[in-house]
Amino acid sequence: MPEAIVALGEAKRVVGRLRFESDGRRQHSQFEYSDEWLAAPDRFALSPGLPLREGGHFFSGKDDKRSALPGCFADAAPDSWGRGLMARALGGGLSEFDYLVLSDDRTRQGALRFLGDDMEPLSDLTPPIPRLVELERLRALAARFERDPGGAEEEARDLAGVAGSLGGARPKANVEGDGHLWIAKFTSAQDTRPVERVEVATLKLAARCGLRVAKAKLELANSDSPVALIKRFDRRGNTRIPYISAKTALDWESDEGGFYTDIADVIRQISSKPIDDLHEIWRRIVFTILVSNKDDHLKNHGFIYAGGDRWRLSPAFDINPSPSRHRVLETGIIQGGSFDASLDIALEACEFFDVKRESAKAQISEMAKIIAEGWRQALRDQGSSADEVRVYADAFEHDEAARALRIVG
Ligand SMILES: Nc1ncnc2c1ncn2[C@@H]1O[C@H](COP(=O)(O)OP(=O)(O)O)[C@@H](O)[C@H]1O
Ligand SMILES: [Mg+2]
Repeated sequence: MPEAIVALGEAKRVVGRLRFESDGRRQHSQFEYSDEWLAAPDRFALSPGLPLREGGHFFSGKDDKRSALPGCFADAAPDSWGRGLMARALGGGLSEFDYLVLSDDRTRQGALRFLGDDMEPLSDLTPPIPRLVELERLRALAARFERDPGGAEEEARDLAGVAGSLGGARPKANVEGDGHLWIAKFTSAQDTRPVERVEVATLKLAARCGLRVAKAKLELANSDSPVALIKRFDRRGNTRIPYISAKTALDWESDEGGFYTDIADVIRQISSKPIDDLHEIWRRIVFTILVSNKDDHLKNHGFIYAGGDRWRLSPAFDINPSPSRHRVLETGIIQGGSFDASLDIALEACEFFDVKRESAKAQISEMAKIIAEGWRQALRDQGSSADEVRVYADAFEHDEAARALRIVG
């Protein structure tokens, strides 16, 4: 039965042991906290769904294979982009456990590490982490792999290591620059719009609206396939900071979308600054609606560990305006309610997030103004052409935005 010692951070603090079993069709795992961790003064639960107690926590993959691992471990395993690379580099037939432990330890999401009995990482893919100056080479590797995954085994080996355990579907890799780790998000061969220019522009716009946002900048900006660099918020120098997605924090098993009021409940339970985080997530709902972000699912929200068994909402990331008439959210605002991207619902829900109605109106109005006055220039600042800006008009100028501008704060 494959197993791993689960440890945290640079110091490899042992927190427990993960065992994995597959009978061909079904995959199961068992995690047990170590006695030392349970007795440690600075112990904390790796996620709310994995409370500190003696004995095994069992997980069994049902229809969705991914739930064969506890959520906090699934968060540290790759999604479709990283899996595609690993399968090509290492051969098919990888189990959930393989995807988790064989991906690169140095760039792994959060602070979890998966070690053998010799206390060394089980990772199998460990080329040197590329530096910023190698971005063009990396971009070429990603493009070749996207074009012909079957014929790009060598590219896959190089990239699978540096894509590490990062989730998501878009082509990406880790790079080191200015002594920090960054996520390089590549323009995809399938993109019909300047997705990465607009992602960087939108993150900057979000920061101007007062949101806490991952630092972002555009590289190779003068080319047809620019690269968004997003600074890793789960690293501080060499320190690794535990991370869980909102999906894990909610212990959300369903394939259906979750709800922001459930995130609010979790914030009340686990945040070290619940009021700040409640206000912040409410403002992110409003921003998401105003910029027609269609990517606000539960893995695009997360929490980073704040010490003392408390967490903070992570900086915002992966916000992608999408011009479309169909205005829906991936995460509904009020539990059990509609998925409409509606500011009326956001307003109706404000008290769940400890925001007073008058203040809510004022904030909506203020954000709407900043976006209305700033979005075109924000896109141009990242090198979007006049045509490209025009294509995005529907994402920023729509009925909800117009009504938001009429709300008097
Ligand atoms: N700045 C960041 N620091 C640390 N982890 C991040 C950061 N941005 C994204 N992530 C993690 O990487 C995953 C993939 O990144 P994301 O931008 O969502 O890519 P995609 O567009 O492919 O979904 C996220 O789900 C999150 O877990
Ligand atoms: Mg994402």
